[in-house]
Amino acid sequence: MERKKMTIPDILEAKNKGKKITMLTAYDFPLASFIDQAGIDIILVGDSLGMVVLGYENTLPVTMEEMLHHIKAVKRAIKYALLVGDMPYLSFHKSKEDAIYNAGRFIKEAGCDAVKLEYYPGVIEITKAIVQAGIPVMGHIGLTPQTAIQLGGFKVQGREAKAAQALLEAAVSFEEVGCFSIVLECVPDKVAKIITGKLKIPTIGIGAGPDCDGQVLVTHDMLGLFERFLPKFAKQYINLAPQIIEAIKKFKEEVEKGVFPDKSHSFTIPEEELKKIKY
Ligand code: KIV
Repeated sequence: MERKKMTIPDILEAKNKGKKITMLTAYDFPLASFIDQAGIDIILVGDSLGMVVLGYENTLPVTMEEMLHHIKAVKRAIKYALLVGDMPYLSFHKSKEDAIYNAGRFIKEAGCDAVKLEYYPGVIEITKAIVQAGIPVMGHIGLTPQTAIQLGGFKVQGREAKAAQALLEAAVSFEEVGCFSIVLECVPDKVAKIITGKLKIPTIGIGAGPDCDGQVLVTHDMLGLFERFLPKFAKQYINLAPQIIEAIKKFKEEVEKGVFPDKSHSFTIPEEELKKIKY
């Protein structure tokens, strides 16, 4: 069947049809191209960029300019997937006007199809304003790394009834103001199931069990490209880091021994031309 560019109605329809949605992160042209070729529905340029690519301790330092730079590279690689850009810390907190302007830059300058906003108490009104400006929004609740300090660190959210109830209410509020989907991060599987059953829009889980409408992983975790730590919820499908280090060591060894480059990687000049060079 001929593959078509993924749209927001396709994502909504997937939930109605019971078809699981797949989402992976990308931050550059080559990985985005591989992910797109593999048929993933949504590519998220997450602010995890800050940790897995830029080497920051957490996601807080990531700037609008850094996000835009990487989203543009990803955009050039995508033919089919829906492209979602993650709004960085403080880019949607100051005022509705500022948030609309920044979200608009993701669409207008970088070519995103939608933006993602992490939950914080004032975000619902801001989300409403962005949606009313015509920009599709994906919400994000549960463990929201931008406010992890307030949440008591990087831990599972919604383990007590009151906290789970608050998550459900946040999800419903995001839906009511027009989000087209919601990421549930680090939420008990049964709480994620309740939220997924309650919402008309799809939930996309990360550490939220199998009953979400879709699943997302940070690509650098699943490919073994980020060595600092591997979250419990992340499945490593391949561990590329040792293979990459091995290949680099081999290059160093071959250069030092004069094995590389050999004739097959070199260019020639006709003998008669060579003779004409005065040196
Ligand atoms: O920044 C990110 O990569 C994310 C995903 C974990 C959903 O927000």
